[in-house]
Amino acid sequence: MQQPIPLPPTLDSITATSPIHRLSPAEFRALLDAATDAKTKAYCPYSKFHVGAALLLGPPPSQTEGEKKQEEDPTIVIGANVENASYPVGTCAERVALGKAVVEGYHVTRGFRAVAIATDAETPASPCGMCRQFIREFCDLSTPIIMFDKSSNFIVLKLEDLLPLSFGPSNLGVSDPAKLG
Ligand code: THU
Repeated sequence: MQQPIPLPPTLDSITATSPIHRLSPAEFRALLDAATDAKTKAYCPYSKFHVGAALLLGPPPSQTEGEKKQEEDPTIVIGANVENASYPVGTCAERVALGKAVVEGYHVTRGFRAVAIATDAETPASPCGMCRQFIREFCDLSTPIIMFDKSSNFIVLKLEDLLPLSFGPSNLGVSDPAKLG
């Protein structure tokens, strides 16, 4: 017999004493706010489907050039979907966010602790297959992927649950080229 599908947890279910996937309530709230804001930056005149993505970075490396640089370091990097009149050329929010972060070197200097995605859909939308593979390149399989719907209800799954038996660098004999060095 089919098991009932559990309802996604609501924001109210997060308390200071119940961190989700090693995220504090404040970090979780910051991810929700950033992904929700990122939705407003989407360029999606064709689908009109706004997607915001937010990446929570790991801690910055210890600074030697003084505190100013540390203050400028972001905690979260955002992205949004960017479409194109030639439809397949468009890029998803997750890949825009990761591309931005990677060219800043954050995959090496900080790493990624969580990925959040927000849409205006009635139920949480999950990353497309291409984005799952793209995330796989830069994030550990245990990384939480948080999917928010239009009401901020959410589902959290680990990357390995979204992309089981994944193909990665080790399949090509390369060990963690994109991870913390
Ligand atoms: N989209 C994303 O940004 N991320 C996904 O994981 C799924 C789909 C975008 C692509 C396109 O701009 C719009 O949503 C409709 O497919």
